[in-house]
Amino acid sequence: MAIIASNFKTNHTRKSTASFINNVNDYLNSSAIKSEVYVFPSSTSFDSFNTVSNLTLGAQNAYATAKGSFTGEIGTEQLDEFAIKTILIGHSERRHVLGESQEETAKKFTFYSELGYKIIYCIGEPLEVKQQGIEQTLEYVYEQFVGIDTNYENLILAYEPVWAIGTGVTASNTDITSIHSVIKSKISKPLLYGGSVKVANVAEICALDGVDGALIGTASWKVEDFKQIIENTKDL
Ligand code: 13P
Repeated sequence: MAIIASNFKTNHTRKSTASFINNVNDYLNSSAIKSEVYVFPSSTSFDSFNTVSNLTLGAQNAYATAKGSFTGEIGTEQLDEFAIKTILIGHSERRHVLGESQEETAKKFTFYSELGYKIIYCIGEPLEVKQQGIEQTLEYVYEQFVGIDTNYENLILAYEPVWAIGTGVTASNTDITSIHSVIKSKISKPLLYGGSVKVANVAEICALDGVDGALIGTASWKVEDFKQIIENTKDL
Protein backbone atom coordinates (compact mmCIF):
# COMPACT_ATOMS: atom_id res chain seq x y z
CA MET A 1 0.00 0.00 0.00
CA ALA A 2 1.54 3.27 -1.06
CA ILE A 3 2.03 6.11 1.37
CA ILE A 4 1.44 9.45 -0.35
CA ALA A 5 2.16 12.71 1.43
CA SER A 6 1.74 16.33 0.38
CA ASN A 7 3.92 18.96 2.00
CA PHE A 8 2.33 22.36 1.39
CA LYS A 9 5.40 24.21 2.70
CA THR A 10 4.51 27.95 2.66
CA ASN A 11 1.59 27.61 0.27
CA HIS A 12 -2.21 27.75 0.43
CA THR A 13 -4.49 29.82 2.63
CA ARG A 14 -7.05 28.59 5.19
CA LYS A 15 -9.71 28.74 2.50
CA SER A 16 -7.78 26.92 -0.21
CA THR A 17 -6.48 24.35 2.29
CA ALA A 18 -10.02 23.54 3.43
CA SER A 19 -11.16 23.19 -0.15
CA PHE A 20 -8.15 20.96 -0.97
CA ILE A 21 -8.69 18.66 2.01
CA ASN A 22 -12.42 18.35 1.46
CA ASN A 23 -11.82 17.60 -2.20
CA VAL A 24 -9.26 14.86 -1.46
CA ASN A 25 -11.49 13.51 1.27
CA ASP A 26 -14.49 13.25 -1.07
CA TYR A 27 -12.29 11.50 -3.63
CA LEU A 28 -11.00 8.93 -1.13
CA ASN A 29 -14.45 8.49 0.36
CA SER A 30 -16.02 7.65 -2.98
CA SER A 31 -13.25 5.29 -4.06
CA ALA A 32 -11.92 2.04 -2.67
CA ILE A 33 -8.42 3.49 -2.45
CA LYS A 34 -6.62 2.30 0.64
CA SER A 35 -3.36 4.25 0.28
CA GLU A 36 -2.25 6.11 3.39
CA VAL A 37 -2.56 9.79 2.47
CA TYR A 38 -1.08 12.66 4.47
CA VAL A 39 -1.41 16.40 4.02
CA PHE A 40 0.90 18.83 5.82
CA PRO A 41 -0.65 22.31 5.52
CA SER A 42 0.63 25.52 7.03
CA SER A 43 -0.21 25.76 10.75
CA THR A 44 -2.42 28.80 10.08
CA SER A 45 -4.70 26.50 8.09
CA PHE A 46 -5.20 23.82 10.74
CA ASP A 47 -8.80 22.96 11.41
CA SER A 48 -10.90 20.08 12.66
CA PHE A 49 -11.49 18.37 9.33
CA ASN A 50 -13.72 15.35 9.32
CA THR A 51 -11.67 12.97 7.16
CA VAL A 52 -11.76 9.31 6.17
CA SER A 53 -9.45 7.07 8.18
CA ASN A 54 -6.73 6.95 5.50
CA LEU A 55 -6.44 10.75 5.17
CA THR A 56 -4.39 12.37 7.93
CA LEU A 57 -3.49 15.98 8.62
CA GLY A 58 -0.02 16.64 9.99
CA ALA A 59 2.21 19.51 11.11
CA GLN A 60 5.19 20.59 9.01
CA ASN A 61 6.99 21.63 12.18
CA ALA A 62 6.46 22.36 15.85
CA TYR A 63 8.70 23.09 18.80
CA ALA A 64 9.61 20.50 21.42
CA THR A 65 7.25 21.96 23.99
CA ALA A 66 3.64 21.90 25.13
CA LYS A 67 3.64 25.72 25.44
CA GLY A 68 6.01 28.47 26.53
CA SER A 69 8.05 31.42 25.32
CA PHE A 70 9.28 30.42 21.86
CA THR A 71 8.30 33.28 19.59
CA GLY A 72 7.02 32.17 16.23
CA GLU A 73 6.77 28.50 17.19
CA ILE A 74 3.84 26.27 18.10
CA GLY A 75 3.69 23.43 20.63
CA THR A 76 1.46 20.50 21.45
CA GLU A 77 -1.26 22.65 23.02
CA GLN A 78 -1.82 24.19 19.60
CA LEU A 79 -1.65 20.79 17.88
CA ASP A 80 -4.01 19.16 20.38
CA GLU A 81 -6.65 21.74 19.55
CA PHE A 82 -6.91 20.11 16.12
CA ALA A 83 -6.13 16.54 17.24
CA ILE A 84 -2.94 16.62 15.17
CA LYS A 85 -0.71 13.67 16.06
CA THR A 86 1.51 13.56 12.98
CA ILE A 87 4.61 15.66 12.34
CA LEU A 88 7.41 16.11 9.81
CA ILE A 89 10.83 16.27 11.45
CA GLY A 90 14.20 17.00 9.85
CA HIS A 91 12.90 18.36 6.58
CA SER A 92 15.68 19.69 4.37
CA GLU A 93 14.31 23.23 4.53
CA ARG A 94 14.32 23.13 8.35
CA ARG A 95 17.90 21.90 8.31
CA HIS A 96 19.39 23.93 5.47
CA VAL A 97 17.25 27.08 5.22
CA LEU A 98 16.22 27.54 8.86
CA GLY A 99 19.49 26.17 10.21
CA GLU A 100 18.13 23.47 12.52
CA SER A 101 21.02 21.38 13.82
CA GLN A 102 21.04 17.61 14.19
CA GLU A 103 20.98 18.11 17.95
CA GLU A 104 17.82 20.24 17.78
CA THR A 105 16.27 17.84 15.30
CA ALA A 106 16.98 14.87 17.56
CA LYS A 107 15.58 16.71 20.58
CA LYS A 108 12.38 17.35 18.66
CA PHE A 109 12.26 13.70 17.60
CA THR A 110 12.62 12.50 21.19
CA PHE A 111 9.94 14.89 22.44
CA TYR A 112 7.38 13.94 19.80
CA SER A 113 8.14 10.22 19.92
CA GLU A 114 7.59 10.19 23.69
CA LEU A 115 4.14 11.60 22.99
CA GLY A 116 3.42 8.87 20.45
CA TYR A 117 3.22 11.12 17.39
CA LYS A 118 3.55 9.59 13.97
CA ILE A 119 6.82 11.02 12.72
CA ILE A 120 7.87 11.38 9.12
CA TYR A 121 11.60 11.80 9.54
CA CYS A 122 13.47 13.32 6.60
CA ILE A 123 17.06 12.76 5.55
CA GLY A 124 19.03 13.63 2.43
CA GLU A 125 22.31 15.02 1.18
CA PRO A 126 23.17 18.31 -0.58
CA LEU A 127 24.63 18.32 -4.08
CA GLU A 128 28.25 18.79 -3.04
CA VAL A 129 28.03 15.63 -0.94
CA LYS A 130 26.37 13.61 -3.69
CA GLN A 131 29.18 14.64 -6.02
CA GLN A 132 31.71 13.06 -3.65
CA GLY A 133 30.15 9.64 -4.19
CA ILE A 134 27.97 7.04 -2.54
CA GLU A 135 30.21 6.40 0.49
CA GLN A 136 30.25 10.09 1.45
CA THR A 137 26.54 10.34 0.76
CA LEU A 138 25.80 7.44 3.11
CA GLU A 139 28.11 8.85 5.74
CA TYR A 140 26.24 12.17 5.55
CA VAL A 141 22.89 10.42 5.81
CA TYR A 142 24.05 8.32 8.80
CA GLU A 143 24.91 11.55 10.63
CA GLN A 144 21.27 12.53 10.26
CA PHE A 145 20.32 9.51 12.35
CA VAL A 146 22.45 10.57 15.33
CA GLY A 147 20.19 10.82 18.38
CA ILE A 148 17.24 9.26 16.53
CA ASP A 149 15.54 6.11 17.81
CA THR A 150 15.11 4.26 14.53
CA ASN A 151 13.15 1.52 16.29
CA TYR A 152 10.39 3.97 17.17
CA GLU A 153 7.15 2.24 16.25
CA ASN A 154 5.40 5.23 14.71
CA LEU A 155 8.19 6.13 12.35
CA ILE A 156 8.14 6.68 8.60
CA LEU A 157 11.36 7.75 6.89
CA ALA A 158 11.66 10.00 3.85
CA TYR A 159 14.79 10.20 1.74
CA GLU A 160 14.82 13.60 0.07
CA PRO A 161 18.08 14.54 -1.62
CA VAL A 162 18.42 18.32 -1.20
CA TRP A 163 19.48 18.81 -4.83
CA ALA A 164 16.24 17.21 -6.03
CA ILE A 165 13.88 19.31 -3.91
CA GLY A 166 11.98 21.95 -5.84
CA THR A 167 14.50 21.82 -8.67
CA GLY A 168 12.65 19.67 -11.19
CA VAL A 169 15.64 17.33 -11.08
CA THR A 170 14.39 13.97 -9.83
CA ALA A 171 16.96 11.49 -8.56
CA SER A 172 17.55 8.68 -11.05
CA ASN A 173 16.08 5.27 -10.29
CA THR A 174 19.60 4.04 -9.54
CA ASP A 175 20.26 6.96 -7.17
CA ILE A 176 17.05 6.15 -5.33
CA THR A 177 17.44 2.38 -5.13
CA SER A 178 21.09 2.49 -4.11
CA ILE A 179 20.37 4.73 -1.11
CA HIS A 180 17.04 3.11 -0.24
CA SER A 181 18.44 -0.41 -0.24
CA VAL A 182 21.16 0.53 2.26
CA ILE A 183 18.78 2.41 4.56
CA LYS A 184 16.22 -0.40 4.36
CA SER A 185 18.87 -3.00 5.21
CA LYS A 186 19.62 -1.11 8.44
CA ILE A 187 16.21 0.24 9.42
CA SER A 188 13.00 -1.67 8.81
CA LYS A 189 10.59 1.21 8.53
CA PRO A 190 8.54 2.49 5.60
CA LEU A 191 10.77 4.68 3.43
CA LEU A 192 9.38 7.39 1.15
CA TYR A 193 11.23 9.18 -1.62
CA GLY A 194 10.88 12.94 -2.08
CA GLY A 195 12.33 15.42 -4.56
CA SER A 196 10.60 16.57 -7.75
CA VAL A 197 8.09 13.73 -7.71
CA LYS A 198 5.23 14.50 -10.12
CA VAL A 199 2.17 12.99 -11.76
CA ALA A 200 4.26 11.60 -14.61
CA ASN A 201 6.90 9.80 -12.52
CA VAL A 202 5.24 8.92 -9.21
CA ALA A 203 4.11 5.43 -10.18
CA GLU A 204 7.51 4.47 -11.54
CA ILE A 205 9.31 5.78 -8.45
CA CYS A 206 6.90 4.21 -5.97
CA ALA A 207 7.22 0.85 -7.74
CA LEU A 208 11.00 0.77 -7.20
CA ASP A 209 12.45 -1.73 -4.74
CA GLY A 210 12.69 -0.23 -1.27
CA VAL A 211 10.33 2.68 -2.00
CA ASP A 212 7.12 2.67 0.05
CA GLY A 213 5.66 5.93 -1.17
CA ALA A 214 6.38 9.58 -1.88
CA LEU A 215 6.61 12.89 -0.06
CA ILE A 216 5.69 15.57 -2.55
CA GLY A 217 5.93 19.36 -2.56
CA THR A 218 5.36 21.39 -5.73
CA ALA A 219 3.47 18.79 -7.78
CA SER A 220 0.99 18.14 -4.97
CA TRP A 221 -0.27 21.67 -4.48
CA LYS A 222 -2.92 21.50 -7.22
CA VAL A 223 -5.63 19.24 -5.93
CA GLU A 224 -6.36 17.64 -9.31
CA ASP A 225 -2.68 16.69 -9.63
CA PHE A 226 -2.55 15.35 -6.08
CA LYS A 227 -5.62 13.18 -6.72
CA GLN A 228 -4.00 11.94 -9.93
CA ILE A 229 -0.86 11.07 -7.96
CA ILE A 230 -2.98 9.04 -5.52
CA GLU A 231 -4.79 7.43 -8.45
CA ASN A 232 -1.54 6.51 -10.22
CA THR A 233 -0.19 4.73 -7.14
CA LYS A 234 -3.36 3.17 -5.73
CA ASP A 235 -2.49 -0.40 -6.75
CA LEU A 236 1.11 -0.38 -5.53
P1 13P B 1 9.32 19.08 -4.35
O1 13P B 1 8.33 17.97 -4.62
O2 13P B 1 8.81 20.43 -4.63
O3 13P B 1 10.64 18.78 -4.97
O4 13P B 1 9.57 19.07 -2.75
C1 13P B 1 9.86 17.88 -2.12
C2 13P B 1 9.77 18.09 -0.67
O5 13P B 1 10.57 18.79 -0.07
C3 13P B 1 8.66 17.45 0.05
O6 13P B 1 8.83 17.53 1.43
